[in-house]
Amino acid sequence: MSGHAIEPARRLTGEVMLPGDKSVSHRALLFSALATGKSVIHGLSAAQDPKSTVHCLRALGIEVHEERNTTEVIGRGTRGFSAPAAALDCGNSGTTMRLLCGILSGQTFESTLTGDGSLMKRPMKRVLGPLAKMGASISGTPAGTAPIAVKGNPYLRPLRFIADVPSAQVKSAILLAGMYAAGETTVVEPIPTRDHTERMLGLKSFDVPEGRAVTTQGGMSIPAREYSVPGDTSAAVFLIAAASLLPGSDILLKRVSVNPTRAQVFERFRRLGVSLEVVERVTVAGEEIADVRVRASGLSGALDISAPETASVIDEIPMLAVAAAVAGCSFRLRGAQELRVKESDRIELLVKNLRSMEVEVEEYADGFAFGPNNAVIGGRIGTAGDHRIAMAFGVAGLVVPGVILDDASCVEVSFPGFWNTIDRLRSH
Ligand code: S3P
Repeated sequence: MSGHAIEPARRLTGEVMLPGDKSVSHRALLFSALATGKSVIHGLSAAQDPKSTVHCLRALGIEVHEERNTTEVIGRGTRGFSAPAAALDCGNSGTTMRLLCGILSGQTFESTLTGDGSLMKRPMKRVLGPLAKMGASISGTPAGTAPIAVKGNPYLRPLRFIADVPSAQVKSAILLAGMYAAGETTVVEPIPTRDHTERMLGLKSFDVPEGRAVTTQGGMSIPAREYSVPGDTSAAVFLIAAASLLPGSDILLKRVSVNPTRAQVFERFRRLGVSLEVVERVTVAGEEIADVRVRASGLSGALDISAPETASVIDEIPMLAVAAAVAGCSFRLRGAQELRVKESDRIELLVKNLRSMEVEVEEYADGFAFGPNNAVIGGRIGTAGDHRIAMAFGVAGLVVPGVILDDASCVEVSFPGFWNTIDRLRSH
């Protein structure tokens, strides 16, 4: 049977410039398109997901010029998009689809959003519901999935929305639609999610009894500016796990986002005994970045992630779980039903693949658990084309012989050149 066999590594050493943060990359592109005039983005991620956003913006009449390390976007203002000639293909990218729903809800034209097989299965009602309440004609299939048909309304109604699912994508979509509403639109989050939209747009945010509120004003304009995209925290975790698991490793991750809504995972690793040093901390364009040095330490103890904490490490759970299994730590995850509706059903895939590596796993509707001292062995890993599943088990394969991935190319969705980066670090 074909597949990608992972060759175990002795250790990883060297410096790494990570891909640009995916969440910040999408937003830098979209906010530049909404501004009037030329914005310049430094360090935009070259991964497939942000490329999907570029593709959709071009289809909406926005000029995007990609140079080596800078990207120029010629924004045409919040009302300057033109009607696309065909359905907008968001590829594998939920952020592209959901944030565009917000923007397209305020346009004067009709549009359709589609994506790949994975994206067409993901829940969209969470964003369609509030946008329809604001006055957009927006609908998906009866199951609440894409394709999504949007008939924009340039005079939306403002909304006060209390988030029922913790989702930065839903929050951002509503706030972007709020720019086309007459008045103030507010999203209240009982459980905080990543705050890139509010930071990058300088939105007002404050505490209310139900949680944290953030607002946009109808008619607001976004200035054209320069963006500097930090390294992706969610990509960093694969290298952090690998370096801590392989004795003798010592790596330096340059200019990583340590935004507090993203960096909780560092604390998680530290509590498992990982030697993680955050140095040269600076704030660039509203986002905190730092160099992160990781030295081999092994992982020990137990990892327990419960409902209110899942949102802060949602993209990092695959790597945390696989690292815990490989290191012989126990692991328990509850309240993480969101993980079933990511690029794949990540609970199902993690459980299935860990079992194939002889980990005794108990599965719940909202998580899974395993005990300590698992003697993990290699096995065939089904990725379902999910980039984070492929990288998490790829890291397991650096430690445990005999790991074979059914698909290694899906890593390009968020971490272009992941395997080359690993090979460079292992050959020192
Ligand atoms: C993202 C938010 C998260 C995350 C995704 C990127 C964003 O999704 O999982 O990878 O850029 O806003 P949800 O907001 O749906 O949880």
